[in-house]
Amino acid sequence: MTKLEGKIAVITGGSSGIGLATARRFVSEGAYVYLTGRQQRELDAAVRQIGKHVTAVQGDVSRLADLDRLYATVKQQHGRLDIVFANAGVGREFAALGEISEAHFDELFDINVKGLLFTVQKALPLLQDGGSIILNASNSTIKVPPAFSVYSATKAAIRSFARSWTLDLQARQIRVNAVSPGPTDTLFFSHMGLTEEQRKQTVTSLVSTIPLGRLGDPDDIAKAVVFLASDDSSFITGIELVGASSRYPRYLSHERLADKRGRASPKGMLVRRARGEKRRSKADVTCSSRIINLEA
Ligand SMILES: NC(=O)c1ccc[n+]([C@@H]2O[C@H](COP(=O)([O-])OP(=O)(O)OC[C@H]3O[C@@H](n4cnc5c(N)ncnc54)[C@H](OP(=O)(O)O)[C@@H]3O)[C@@H](O)[C@H]2O)c1
Repeated sequence: MTKLEGKIAVITGGSSGIGLATARRFVSEGAYVYLTGRQQRELDAAVRQIGKHVTAVQGDVSRLADLDRLYATVKQQHGRLDIVFANAGVGREFAALGEISEAHFDELFDINVKGLLFTVQKALPLLQDGGSIILNASNSTIKVPPAFSVYSATKAAIRSFARSWTLDLQARQIRVNAVSPGPTDTLFFSHMGLTEEQRKQTVTSLVSTIPLGRLGDPDDIAKAVVFLASDDSSFITGIELVGASSRYPRYLSHERLADKRGRASPKGMLVRRARGEKRRSKADVTCSSRIINLEA
């Protein structure tokens, strides 16, 4: 007997990375999956990869009309829903306080917070009592990299939703949990505006902070989501399951290196750490008043 036999699931952001790996696991565990994403071509490729028991509905989670279309499709084809994995989210570029634009704030909060909230709320009429909701947060709320405050704040909101919604849905015995991946090898890093070289150096630097000494694989996270979706976690609700938690040094200096614009550069910091450069430079000393305490 598979773990999700006969279950109907929605996975937002299912065309790549963690969402796609989870969709593959869900189907192999006996579920029928509805995937969303903004790019039809990527969705088509995902559907081909999964092969069976899957429907893709193109849409942007921050657009409520797109969510209505998604749930209308689920209602028409299956008439009910058992699992929601609210996974779609974006990180984009680094922006330290002082450099945060309104567009950066709006995009991240629109997709990661508003999109996730309405993904769940609009699922409720179809969601069966005893169903399971899993929210994709991030371990960056626990160990936050510099200049990632807006992204981390969106994920902190998600962690908070899991706790609150558990109570709101108590009468219906619907469980709500968050999964908080550590750095995971997906396209997420390709969307950060880094050059290929910077991307490699950033990944090397991050890996050096992860106790297991490697990035997470999307399937590592997918297995945790299957656990939270299935009856194996029947008495677990309101938790945050942290995957491959990374550890940052207690203090990181907010350097002004390697940024052509001469502004504070967390990318420069990650690049230097990747090169194993530990000595504090003159730039570090002049920035010493801006040392950031990263201990949770
Ligand atoms: N990778 C990591 O290290 C890591 C760590 C912690 C948490 N996370 C979280 O994991 C989740 C999945 O990210 P990933 O790492 O798997 O990255 P990914 O491979 O880039 O996948 C992101 C998925 O979300 C979709 N998406 C993005 N914006 C969307 C929107 N507005 N509406 C609908 N779909 C949207 C993307 O498709 P389209 O672009 O076609 O829409 C794609 O399918 C995100 O919430 C991310 O914050 C990732």
